[in-house]
Amino acid sequence: MASVATVTRTTETVSPELQAYITDHTDPVDPVLAELAEETARLYPDQKGMQIGTEQGALTTLLTRIQGARDAVEIGTFTGYSALCFARGLPEDGRLLALDTSEEWTSVARRYWERAGVADRIDLRIGPALETLRALPEQEQFDIAFLDADKTGYLDYWEELVPRMRPGGLLLADNTLSHGRVVDSNNTEPHVQGIRDFNDRLMSDDRVTQVLLPIGDGLTLARKN
Ligand SMILES: C[S@@+](CC[C@H](N)C(=O)[O-])C[C@H]1O[C@@H](n2cnc3c(N)ncnc32)[C@H](O)[C@@H]1O
Repeated sequence: MASVATVTRTTETVSPELQAYITDHTDPVDPVLAELAEETARLYPDQKGMQIGTEQGALTTLLTRIQGARDAVEIGTFTGYSALCFARGLPEDGRLLALDTSEEWTSVARRYWERAGVADRIDLRIGPALETLRALPEQEQFDIAFLDADKTGYLDYWEELVPRMRPGGLLLADNTLSHGRVVDSNNTEPHVQGIRDFNDRLMSDDRVTQVLLPIGDGLTLARKN
């Protein structure tokens, strides 16, 4: 999509020192989140990178509060870090619908949600997320949504979620830079192409207004008009 005019200010390259500074100037993680991250790294060293980072977690809680969200949905829960960040931003009578296929990973999540005192706000459903979404009652709507599961499924999740968002509702999608591979035309891996297709689709979707932020591996924020 050709832009009429662009104003480019290059995002800082984040050196390890700058990353440490950013972390030092963001609300620190509390002991429950810290222990959840530690246990995840210990139990699943090869998968720990799937968890959102400290700043993204803080942003998630903040955005949930700014939205005044009551009904949230997350696609891709893993060991529950991002879900805990959403749940903490919800009011006591708020609800997060958390979707994942793994009983094992989410059993870790359930323990930490109990410890954090937010388990009663989280409705975890195990199964392919697309099936769960399609089976929801027609009237079920959300104020905030998070896409963080299989990247080849993002477009289908998007089409299910947008009609279910209340006006002004916020959709967040993680990994929208695919570790920089979105701009590598030699890379045709399905999960990278899935993200490219998703990013392109949003640009032609006049139901939303969006921005792609270079936080973590890229986080897209899209507000339903
Ligand atoms: C990147 S991880 C989620 C990380 C999590 N948001 C966090 O911050 O800790 C992706 C998760 O998506 C789940 N997943 C993959 N395909 C899925 C599908 N078709 N339906 C539901 N969950 C799926 C995986 O089991 C995995 O736990």
